[in-house]
Amino acid sequence: MCGIIGYIGNSDATPVLIDGLKKLEYRGYDSSGVGVIDSTKDRIIVRKSSGKISNLENLIRTKPVGKSSIGISHTRWATHGAPTTVNAHPHLDGSGKIVIVHNGIIENYETLKTALKKQGHTFKSDTDTEIVSHLIEKYYKGNLRAAVGRAVRDLEGAFALGVISTHEPDKLIAARIGSPLIIGLGKKENFIASDVPAILDKTRKIIYLKDGEMAEITKDKVDVFNFAGKKVNAKVHTITFNIDAVKKQGYPHFMMKEMHEQADVIQKMIKARIGKTGIALDGIGLTQKQLSSFKKIIILACGTAYHAGMVGKYVIEKLAKIPVSVDAASEFRYRDPIVDRKTLVIAISQSGETADTLAGVREAKRRGARVITICNVVGSSIVRESDGVLYTHAGPEISVASTKAYTAQIAMLYLLAFKLAGPAKKEIKKLISEFKKVPALYKDILKNKAEIARVAKKNSHFGCFLFLGRNVNYPSALEGALKLKEISYIPAEGYAAGEMKHGPIALIDEYRAVVCVAVKSDVYEKMISNIQEIRARKGKIIAIATKGDKEIDKHVNYVIHVPKTSDLLTPLVVALPLQLFAYYVAVKLGCDVDQPRNLAKSVTVE
Ligand code: M6R
Repeated sequence: MCGIIGYIGNSDATPVLIDGLKKLEYRGYDSSGVGVIDSTKDRIIVRKSSGKISNLENLIRTKPVGKSSIGISHTRWATHGAPTTVNAHPHLDGSGKIVIVHNGIIENYETLKTALKKQGHTFKSDTDTEIVSHLIEKYYKGNLRAAVGRAVRDLEGAFALGVISTHEPDKLIAARIGSPLIIGLGKKENFIASDVPAILDKTRKIIYLKDGEMAEITKDKVDVFNFAGKKVNAKVHTITFNIDAVKKQGYPHFMMKEMHEQADVIQKMIKARIGKTGIALDGIGLTQKQLSSFKKIIILACGTAYHAGMVGKYVIEKLAKIPVSVDAASEFRYRDPIVDRKTLVIAISQSGETADTLAGVREAKRRGARVITICNVVGSSIVRESDGVLYTHAGPEISVASTKAYTAQIAMLYLLAFKLAGPAKKEIKKLISEFKKVPALYKDILKNKAEIARVAKKNSHFGCFLFLGRNVNYPSALEGALKLKEISYIPAEGYAAGEMKHGPIALIDEYRAVVCVAVKSDVYEKMISNIQEIRARKGKIIAIATKGDKEIDKHVNYVIHVPKTSDLLTPLVVALPLQLFAYYVAVKLGCDVDQPRNLAKSVTVE
């Protein structure tokens, strides 16, 4: 949540900062700002604006900051204080000589603010962040790194900080606990950023700052320390992914690009993980025997990843006969869960930074569970705290609405289920061979996207949607509804179709649209009965049905066809048309598809 980028070097800082901010805008976009030290090295210039980064750019065009070789900047997702200009980062200290950007939440900020006020400090904003600049001011005794190191000891909560000061105008200080922060190593220039894409066109040499570490950065040198001031040997990583992965490559939105990438993501996974001798899940660090010794599995995740986990429950229970429960990570740690050494906990997270999931992982470990994570972002916080990892390698997902990460998570759960069940079994072998066809099925669905667009546009005027599914496609209905509501702002609820008669049916009349996942399966006939119930109440029905199913046409208003696959694999196949449907509705309504209001890509606050 929130994006940070900082620069020190020989180039002009502001264009580098603005360019980097644009690549981090997916992390939050309700206000933004830059703070630079001007060429006299005597003055900090701050520009801030509410709204998108384009507003900040316009402001800087009309009120230029001049050339500078050091600066920090921030794009915000508001937690403490409304998304106004005054609450935007960076925040100056009382003297105007220190300026900071922050990602995270300072939980004890009120206590600290009260104490600082008593000591004569005055504050301009409602943010938790501003107290940090005042604390650094308080502790500054001629060494900026020492002052930051002292200040962070007073803080409770999560933070990634970037700090510059006219006291020491050739230094950039970074520190982190709980919120991601990387250092990019350039030639005669260095960077800090919340995520790799912000600096990928500048350098591929990265240091991942760890929790409890801080860095003193000049244009020629990066030194990493722990908060006690002891120097730390930091590992330099080389980023291998292509810069095109973080560009739209001609697609109108990242979401569209990422939906198109799903076939390749699954194909790569098949190539890497399904071998002649079985399923390769090396990252989990467990033998087949150890894996089979767990008495139960608990899946922890949030949002879309939670829906992937629900698919995993159906699939693992069906194939491997191990009881699986799925917890919204935000609930897990507060409900006194029954977890022990015989429990395998699987955390699922695209970003690997979701605070609720991270807290759940910590709680599970505290209770003795073995924790593995299904994650997309290499080296992320959740991965680092887990005992094992299964990387989905879906490539950077920039659109706030998760698409390729979701299908990659589901695909990984299928592989895990195959492994747990024993891939040599006839039934599993058959499923694996069907699974291998999924990339080709995605290509077929994409050929039909004009038809999905037509159905979406025809139905985009509805003020409320229900999404219904049964059995393994109940999570598909939940995910279809989440996708639609998050990018189009149309109220949409997902239900197990059998639950409709217990309440949601009251909503149905000619003004409601119901999307029914009605692919051919064991529960097809039951789904048709539910469709009849909707029809009898004049609801408009859009069915996701299996290609060749003529029967369904009689019962529904619109049909979106998907290719046939095994019953159990259908969530993988129906995901794509549901994503496309949400996308086309949102486009028709003129919504900001990649950056829906109020949301941010990774939610690093509880
Ligand atoms: O990075 P994570 O997978 O942990 O994120 C979890 C949710 O915040 C995320 O899936 C969210 O629900 C997406 N916006 C859904 O499209």
